[in-house]
Amino acid sequence: MDITVSEKYLWFPVDMSGEMVWVSVYDGDQKIQEMKVSLGKEHIDFYGVWKATEYLGKELRIVSEKGEEYLDGVDIRQEKTRPQNDYPYRPRLHYTPAYGWVNDPNGLVYVDGVYHMFHQYNPYSTEWQNMSWGHATSTDLVTWEHHGDAISPDALGTIFSGSCVVDKDNTAGFGDGAVIAFYTSASDRQVQSMAYSLDNGKTFKKYARNPILTSTQRDFRDPKVIWHEDTKKWIMVLAVGQEMEIYSSADLKNWTLESKFGEGQGAHGGVWECPDLLELPIEGTELKKWVLVCNLNPGGPFGGSATQYFVGTFDGKRFVNESPAVTKWMDWGKDHYATVTWSNAPAGRAIALAWMSNWQYANDVPTRQYRSANSVPRDLSLYTSEGETYVKVTPSPELLKLRDKGSKKRAFKVDRTYNLDKLLNDNSGTYEIEMTIKNKDADVIGFQLFNSKGEEVEMYYNLAEKTFTMDRTKSGEVSFSKDFPAVTVAPVEGGNEMKLRLFVDKSSIEAFGNDGRFAMTNLVFPSEPYNRISFYAKGGSCNVTSFTVYKLGLK
Ligand code: FRU
Repeated sequence: MDITVSEKYLWFPVDMSGEMVWVSVYDGDQKIQEMKVSLGKEHIDFYGVWKATEYLGKELRIVSEKGEEYLDGVDIRQEKTRPQNDYPYRPRLHYTPAYGWVNDPNGLVYVDGVYHMFHQYNPYSTEWQNMSWGHATSTDLVTWEHHGDAISPDALGTIFSGSCVVDKDNTAGFGDGAVIAFYTSASDRQVQSMAYSLDNGKTFKKYARNPILTSTQRDFRDPKVIWHEDTKKWIMVLAVGQEMEIYSSADLKNWTLESKFGEGQGAHGGVWECPDLLELPIEGTELKKWVLVCNLNPGGPFGGSATQYFVGTFDGKRFVNESPAVTKWMDWGKDHYATVTWSNAPAGRAIALAWMSNWQYANDVPTRQYRSANSVPRDLSLYTSEGETYVKVTPSPELLKLRDKGSKKRAFKVDRTYNLDKLLNDNSGTYEIEMTIKNKDADVIGFQLFNSKGEEVEMYYNLAEKTFTMDRTKSGEVSFSKDFPAVTVAPVEGGNEMKLRLFVDKSSIEAFGNDGRFAMTNLVFPSEPYNRISFYAKGGSCNVTSFTVYKLGLK
């Protein structure tokens, strides 16, 4: 099929129930784009989009691996704008592109007042495929503007996860302040590549001498690059099988293997992915410790993907875990993966973002035009409890600014049902709840969030076992995967006062307990928003001393 490009965007009609077929776009003899996609004729679920600006006025040829017939009757539209697709589960507080598949956050970097979020992206379908880096920017970590693809597949392969740095001193020679992206080029082997931006992260050029690092290992990916001030060197951490490899470099192009970390450490139920390495302050002290973040799939505490971390020392060559016998989880839900932090964040902040899904069912969750969002941003620090140092995960302070000033704090009665729509004067399904519960002599204290269809999420503290549980087995649509209806449990410290913050955003619940000493992130798919709440206490009584449900000021 030939198309003369007359508009900025080509819209490809996608039928999600069809067979995935390789489709290529040629400019003369040169293949300029290749995508695996299920094109629709009678039935169209949504439009995948391809930005064709640089080919305006040109004639392009579109071919499929199934021949000409496959494309007969496929109406590829030419449009001035991107399509706006919507869906009832689409979050408001969390970023999603208008269409397409999203997984890991990539290349998080703060440049000149702007937070850049790149992410694993398939613009042509809502299943994992055609990996490129999508790009969005924000100045407040909440409102995101989507910019389409930043780095697209090439002869070395598709573009897997990685990171960005700002090369302030021009160590790589691309220019002062170049933003440099490191990613894995994935084909039948995985190699590391780089690309650089001379316009503050808006556009990238691939380095002419890619790849910059190769290996004989099959799983060799997700480069995280940081600057190590003490040794004045760049450090790259790579996930390699079930280990991390640590490299150093003076110029970001030539890398030397310094050490390996992982054998006998932490959870090993699956492959290690998406590392991060950062130094964090310990609250209440002047001290800092190094944290090695290690995402793991499968092998999480409730099956599938999860984020573990190690606390210890790092001297520019070697990371030493101070507690090899303890496995530490950053989040106790099922939908918190590929966590990484922003490079160059202001005021030395460690701002983390996770992908809110799980490889057990990520491709099956019941959304159509988009699939998957990232978590709310979270600030990380360290705290010590009974001699052990843990990561504290607090919703980023930017989220406080969204709270509607009219929201009222109140005391709640146990055993009564409250209507959240009325308290909120809103039924959008996006809100924050903050509560403090004081226990008198109960064994279990909990509440259900539910809707008129009887769909509910139950959360409760077990005071004897010192746990917090979230049960989503009756949360709405759960049948798309046997691994979805789950009950997740976090350890909590003792004490009679419990503080909890919940972010509910149509199809997700993120819980933060006791100022971030535990976090739990779970997806839910209710057929209508949870708009009621009722508390209960078993084996004794308690007081809900304060309860506020906040409407969030979102555009
Ligand atoms: C983690 C991951 C990474 C890889 C990317 C591919 O979710 O498997 O290891 O780079 O996703 O999309």
